[in-house]
Amino acid sequence: MPTTTTMPYDVADLELADSGERLITWAGREMPVLRLIRERFAAERPLEGLRLSACLHVTSETANLVITLKAGGADVRLCASNPLSTQDTVAAALTARHGIPTFAVKGEDNARYFSHVNAVLDHRPQLTMDDGADLVAELHKTRSELLSTVMAGTEETTTGVVRLRAMARDGALKFPIVAVNEAMTKKMFDNRYGTGQSTIDGIVRATNVLLAGKTFVVCGYGWCGRGLASRAAGLGAHVVVTEVDPVRALEAVMDGYRVAPLRDIAPHADFVTTLTGDINVIDREHLELFKDGVIIANSGHFNDEINLTALRTMASEITKPRPSVEAYHLRGGRTINVLAEGRLVNLAAAEGHPAAVMDMSFANQALCAEYVAKNHATLKPAVYDVPEDIDKTIAALKLRSMGADIDILTDEQRAYLASWETGTN
Ligand code: ADE
Repeated sequence: MPTTTTMPYDVADLELADSGERLITWAGREMPVLRLIRERFAAERPLEGLRLSACLHVTSETANLVITLKAGGADVRLCASNPLSTQDTVAAALTARHGIPTFAVKGEDNARYFSHVNAVLDHRPQLTMDDGADLVAELHKTRSELLSTVMAGTEETTTGVVRLRAMARDGALKFPIVAVNEAMTKKMFDNRYGTGQSTIDGIVRATNVLLAGKTFVVCGYGWCGRGLASRAAGLGAHVVVTEVDPVRALEAVMDGYRVAPLRDIAPHADFVTTLTGDINVIDREHLELFKDGVIIANSGHFNDEINLTALRTMASEITKPRPSVEAYHLRGGRTINVLAEGRLVNLAAAEGHPAAVMDMSFANQALCAEYVAKNHATLKPAVYDVPEDIDKTIAALKLRSMGADIDILTDEQRAYLASWETGTN
């Protein structure tokens, strides 16, 4: 197929399309649930003719999703949901091989990033698909003339859901959005096992430093933090968790981790990774306490979990010892190593979550796109959970694809669970 096209797009180099195509095929091998959905979509065309604007990490897994949406009849445009997470090869393949206009270049600056978000909005979406809510926020803030034709949307991640709930609370949200992140088949697997493995992958690819025997601090014990803590412990690190929520902190203690305030553990940390969704989690007071050579990273959605502004003012020089490492040399002699410019290390320094978990996340995206296309007229401008039957269907399909089976309730057991008469025998 040709590597030239007349449709609008902005990718690094269309000549990279062949290697992108190979990566898309490779990821697809581990996405059996999405494959089944794609086959059904191709036959039933539930998204026929709908203009769908997507703002997602442009990876080989995302490619499998947008190809599925196109198979379902959607007229898709895609931009990146983070300036550093794009796989340029995949962006080229989507544009040149699949006819999906893609606007994403790894390393793009903020102006180009938002020009890409706007290029995708120029499509006049009827459906939106977002990861972090930049697309939806831009649509409401600067492109509100487009709102009247938007039917509904979906949101991929915790940070996006938090933002959208704030919009709904303020009465600012103008169309219904399904929070894909809230599906059990999303957050229990993608956020936990996906983030756990891919964050370690990003840290190791960036540094090639041994984790065994090191003090590894995990800031935040949500699903992502739980996953990272368990994987770091599995590699022999001494894991210390920091939290602001007493229940989560208690869970971390009973999971076997030490829990401490960041300022207490900071002088002892070899690695510190934030995954909280909040701002300045690693703040000036912690930067002042870290020991020489500490490695710090963020695996939360936005790059504001580490106070890099403060760090810059503390540094006399910044060097780049390895491609994804910036060494801040502080007046006084200490060096603080920041990975991937404080952007999500799992996507910026590695390739994001493995395809086998994105299979479930993106099966949720595809089925929720179908759901909102069918049901948008009955939904209000609010944030909705994923319908339970979608969640359960995906779990059942994934289990089957993994060769696992489960028992079925007998009629007697079903009746027992629905009754209150039977108690102590
Ligand atoms: N978010 C985390 N990992 C991802 C991946 N591999 N593709 C798309 N979005 C992601």
